Amino acid sequence: MSEKEPTQIPTATASAQSQPQGDTVFSLLGGESRVRALVDRFYDLMDLEPRYQALRAVHGSDLGSARQKLFWFLCGWLGGPNHYIERFGHPRLRARHMPFKIGLTERDQWLACMDQAMAEVGVDGALRAKLNDAFFGTADWMRNTPG
Ligand code: HEM
Repeated sequence: MSEKEPTQIPTATASAQSQPQGDTVFSLLGGESRVRALVDRFYDLMDLEPRYQALRAVHGSDLGSARQKLFWFLCGWLGGPNHYIERFGHPRLRARHMPFKIGLTERDQWLACMDQAMAEVGVDGALRAKLNDAFFGTADWMRNTPG
């Protein structure tokens, strides 16, 4: 199956560039340390909050690998260094998510968990809204089961 997902956030100003540029969502967020903080909070919340239970249940007992891979992926997708692609090639996210049951519940919990993580690590409101839009497109496209 052909993969239509962008390897960078569609709204990133440097989306056509192969090298990270100054004015990217990645730099607006504050670079690698802030992306790391966001991803860490995302998985901590997934583990801690009962309202993300269905999302947590799709994952294995150890979230370590998921944590590392989402960090690598988001750095590039946000317009920063392409850590994920350098290691694994094209993300093929939809194909890589096929083994997991992803319906509306899992999609919405993923998005809510990420929105809460962004709020808690202090992502600016306008940037958070823009990222929520972009995450919605990607998460919705990952759905592979009804409900
Ligand atoms: C829609 C709801 C989603 C669910 C239920 C979900 C679930 C999962 C699960 C269970 C894994 C495997 C974790 C592991 O290796 O232990 C995974 C991996 C991953 N997810 Fe998601 N995910 C969702 C959405 C997203 C979105 C929106 C993104 C990106 C913006 C994303 C990025 C990734 C990445 C980069 C990996 C690692 C892939 C690999 O190299 O194996 N996921 N996800």
